[in-house]
Amino acid sequence: MWVSVCDVSHIAVGEMKYYTHNHFSFIVVRLDSNTFSVFQSECPHKGGPLQKGELRDGKIICPWHSYEFDLITGEAVVVPYSEKYGAWRNTGKLKFIRHRVVDNRLEVDTE
Ligand code: FES
Repeated sequence: MWVSVCDVSHIAVGEMKYYTHNHFSFIVVRLDSNTFSVFQSECPHKGGPLQKGELRDGKIICPWHSYEFDLITGEAVVVPYSEKYGAWRNTGKLKFIRHRVVDNRLEVDTE
């Protein structure tokens, strides 16, 4: 189901916003004037709150263990402590959410 989130003018280029809809929480990052990265707020590593993370150089950095996820591919491109903790470091990718812009409003697919 498509849900309207906000007017696209409410998110500046390079800005991150956190939204909830029922029990569904997600993050929107505006990458440039026409491109958004939209993904679930739960970190794919151990569930950290990515909305409290930091954006840097096209990545979001999780506040729990500082993994860095690429905002376009979703891949973990920086995994700290990998030698020390072995398999504990394993993670998935950001869980992207389908989205679209209709009449200057950002919509996400909640299904
Ligand atoms: S929970 Fe996000 S890096 Fe571990």
